[in-house]
Amino acid sequence: MTSRRQVLTQSAALIGAASAGMVLPARAQSTKIRIGLMLPYTGTFAQLGIACDNGFRMALEEKGNKLGGKDIEYFKVDDESEPSKGVENANKLVQRDKVDVLVGTVHSGVQMGIHKVARETGVLNIIPNAGMHAATRALCAPNVFRTSFTNSQPTLALGNVMVQKGHKKAVWITWKYAAGDEAGEGFKQGYLAAGGTIVKELGLPFPNVEFQALLTEIASIKPDAVACFFSGGGASKFIRDYAAAGLAGKIPLYGSGFLTEGLLDDELAPSAQGIITTLHYSTSLATKRNDAFRLAYAKAFKMQPDVYAVQGYDAGQLLIQGAAAVNGDFSNKKTLYTAMENAVIDSPRGKWTMSKAHNPVQDMYVRVVKGKENVVQGVAAKALSDSGAGCKLA
Ligand code: BEZ
Repeated sequence: MTSRRQVLTQSAALIGAASAGMVLPARAQSTKIRIGLMLPYTGTFAQLGIACDNGFRMALEEKGNKLGGKDIEYFKVDDESEPSKGVENANKLVQRDKVDVLVGTVHSGVQMGIHKVARETGVLNIIPNAGMHAATRALCAPNVFRTSFTNSQPTLALGNVMVQKGHKKAVWITWKYAAGDEAGEGFKQGYLAAGGTIVKELGLPFPNVEFQALLTEIASIKPDAVACFFSGGGASKFIRDYAAAGLAGKIPLYGSGFLTEGLLDDELAPSAQGIITTLHYSTSLATKRNDAFRLAYAKAFKMQPDVYAVQGYDAGQLLIQGAAAVNGDFSNKKTLYTAMENAVIDSPRGKWTMSKAHNPVQDMYVRVVKGKENVVQGVAAKALSDSGAGCKLA
């Protein structure tokens, strides 16, 4: 496997050459497939970006690091989950490094920058996490594919689970940015349809973690339950603060599965017991496919995988299927995209297919935190497809 140091050295050499005014190798002379990874490697979502990167590289490593018979070369940019640098960072990979495919990213705000560049340049973009609706709705594009979810997919399945448990009056709380707002849309749609009422919507800017005043407000409202969208380091802090405020065990906490995903270590687990979430993966899925994936991932990276690793891995699997159909000739776009559209991904989450708008059609699981695991209790929604509203691809 190409080491992180090697990749960094290669990227640094290219940046150095560019800034010294040297002529970079012409794109046409390259026989390798150039893969750009634009992910957060620092900040609140660093753990998520690294997991996507790990999973993607693992899928390619399993195929001898070849795509359609060709060697590959990685280029990497840390997007820091910083939306204001999204376009500039995507252009580093597309214009400077001349990548054949851009794999990224995690944060919906940054994805908007990548999406602009992908639509303007036509570069193939595989989204391994960010759920911004527009990418596979009104602004869908033939060259943009997602292996994760739309922001409202996991929360759409949550409301019914809560009402089934008798929790009919809820507070919704989130970071106020595209992902949180769209997760809220999904929650509202599912919860109201199931007969629930949202008594208050609370929010704070991303990546703010000053939850205290909001938790005090929740305590005074006394809803039947709280539902939320948080992820990464901020989610961990929210769970700990929720418990410290004396709310755990009194007002049940629910969320899209990002709330607890990849976070249940010795320190956090005691505060997280009993939290119920909906998501398209759990390490606890008892399938041969998932067992083999977990084992291989743990061997390669000395840690357990999570949903972000699975989405990165599936981005690799999708690209492998596309590249095989064109024998590594990425200029054959029509055949490449058709193969990716028709791909069946044998994922650790369960097999899934692409919707017409290029978003996974997948099962949503109900999970409950027990010990240090999100234990699957059942399927909240089978073969859930996003609406793809406004997408005119098909
Ligand atoms: C997003 O910004 O789209 C996002 C980030 C983390 C988890 C889920 C969604």
